Amino acid sequence: MLILVLGKGKTGSLVAEVARERGHGVRALDIVENPHASALTAPNLAGVDVVIDFTAPEAAVENIRAVLALGGRIVVGTTGWYQHLEEMKSKAQKGGALLYGTNFSIGVQKLFQLTAELAKLDGYKFSIDETHHVTKLDAPSGTAITLKEIILGVRPGIDVAIASHRVGDAKGEHLVRATSDCDVIELRHDAHSRRGFALGAVRAAEWLAGKSGAWEFREIFDQL
Ligand SMILES: NC(=O)c1ccc[n+]([C@@H]2O[C@H](COP(=O)([O-])OP(=O)(O)OC[C@H]3O[C@@H](n4cnc5c(N)ncnc54)[C@H](O)[C@@H]3O)[C@@H](O)[C@H]2O)c1
Repeated sequence: MLILVLGKGKTGSLVAEVARERGHGVRALDIVENPHASALTAPNLAGVDVVIDFTAPEAAVENIRAVLALGGRIVVGTTGWYQHLEEMKSKAQKGGALLYGTNFSIGVQKLFQLTAELAKLDGYKFSIDETHHVTKLDAPSGTAITLKEIILGVRPGIDVAIASHRVGDAKGEHLVRATSDCDVIELRHDAHSRRGFALGAVRAAEWLAGKSGAWEFREIFDQL
């Protein structure tokens, strides 16, 4: 497979490394080579099976639009652009393919499932803490927002506070807390390395090759 990685930053560079280790051909572009999605042209995408985006919220929107307009396939790890999600999903239904997710770590996908289970408990209040590195652009994290949506899916209308912390080079820590008058239950996931995100994104790209449509990683991770 030929994979085009957008973003040579902390996560994109690991995605390229993992994709090469898994035997794929890899091209990578950063902002200098791809300002405002300018490198995403038909000739440049010819032969590319899947594009993987780990850039920044505004860049991701431009990149998704450009790839889908050419009927291409794109895995989007970038977070913070979801106000455009419905537009992007409807574009993907008309041609190309989109797979997006707030967290490509398989461990966090398990945290999502356990959180849905925890939220079924009566008599508890729920809250979320997330900690990331100081250069993260969006807050709360996309993963914390997903966790909140999962709890609200089980218990519509309740109050779920999210506390965001920005510390050093923290790779991503999420804590879901259920508190009653008698006890507290905590579900916690700490990423020790960004490799888990990179591996999940490359496996998602392998899954997306040859497909058309739009999916969230949560819907398909157990098929990998
Ligand atoms: N979904 C997940 O599992 C997951 C995991 C880690 C990070 N993220 C998200 O991925 C994004 C990137 O995170 P990071 O920590 O690697 O950031 P980073 O700042 O280290 O890297 C981003 C890179 O993208 C480049 N870039 C910006 N615009 C570009 C463009 N138009 N074309 C190509 N490259 C461009 C920047 O120059 C930079 O090198 C963030 O939104 C972060 O929240 C998601």
